[in-house]
Amino acid sequence: MFTREDWTLFRSLGTLGQKAGVPLRRLAALVVKELVDNALDAGAAAQVENDGDWIYVVDDGPGLPGDAAAIASLFSIKRPLTSSKMVRVPSRGALGNGLRVVAGAVLASGGSLFVETRGQRFDLTPRDDGSTDVEVTPAPGHATGTRISIRFGDTIPVPHDVLSWSEIAIAMASMGKAYKARWLTSSPSSATSRKLLRLGWSARRYRARSLGAR
Ligand SMILES: Nc1ncnc2c1ncn2[C@@H]1O[C@H](COP(=O)(O)OP(=O)(O)OP(=O)(O)O)[C@@H](O)[C@H]1O
Ligand SMILES: [Mg+2]
Repeated sequence: MFTREDWTLFRSLGTLGQKAGVPLRRLAALVVKELVDNALDAGAAAQVENDGDWIYVVDDGPGLPGDAAAIASLFSIKRPLTSSKMVRVPSRGALGNGLRVVAGAVLASGGSLFVETRGQRFDLTPRDDGSTDVEVTPAPGHATGTRISIRFGDTIPVPHDVLSWSEIAIAMASMGKAYKARWLTSSPSSATSRKLLRLGWSARRYRARSLGAR
């Protein structure tokens, strides 16, 4: 029987979509949304911007902990499924997948990625062997929060609406907060809009994965 390690599926465009649960034409939008989801999951306010070549995801959260090796490992496709989120939700698929898809998209398309957090800038280069190279420089202007800059290589299409899923997630996250604060603080069954959005999205991802497995 032919077997191969799971992480190798993240390094080429032919199989990355399978791990991400979207067709190639929506991969860029999904990658940006993974970054935005992480910011929102950290309880932060998130912003996303597209200046043509580069897309920026900025948040005012706690920042990414750890030294350069830890941050490179977080953004490496060979990292084991690790997550600070302790709940595993079957309908959402595997937690700890998001940054592996981000790193895979950069690797598979020959793109670029850097992260500014806690006063340092990390230039990240995912490699075919599953590791990610990192160069560190001071970034005193980015003492708080996390700013991620990503540029996709030519083989990943970047549609005009590449930010659309991210913008919906950001909008619904703030709606969820306001709604929860006003009306749902004491309700045990409260579900924020973002959770509902994610549920809908994960159902799609899950369906795509299930279909792929058949
Ligand atoms: N902007 C951020 N602020 C704070 N922590 C972050 C941020 N981005 C990523 N992290 C940390 O990196 C971890 C890994 O992120 P990743 O997207 O790979 O997995 P996940 O978000 O835990 O699960 P999944 O994306 O599959 O739902 C997160 O669990 C979180 O601890
Ligand atoms: Mg994530």
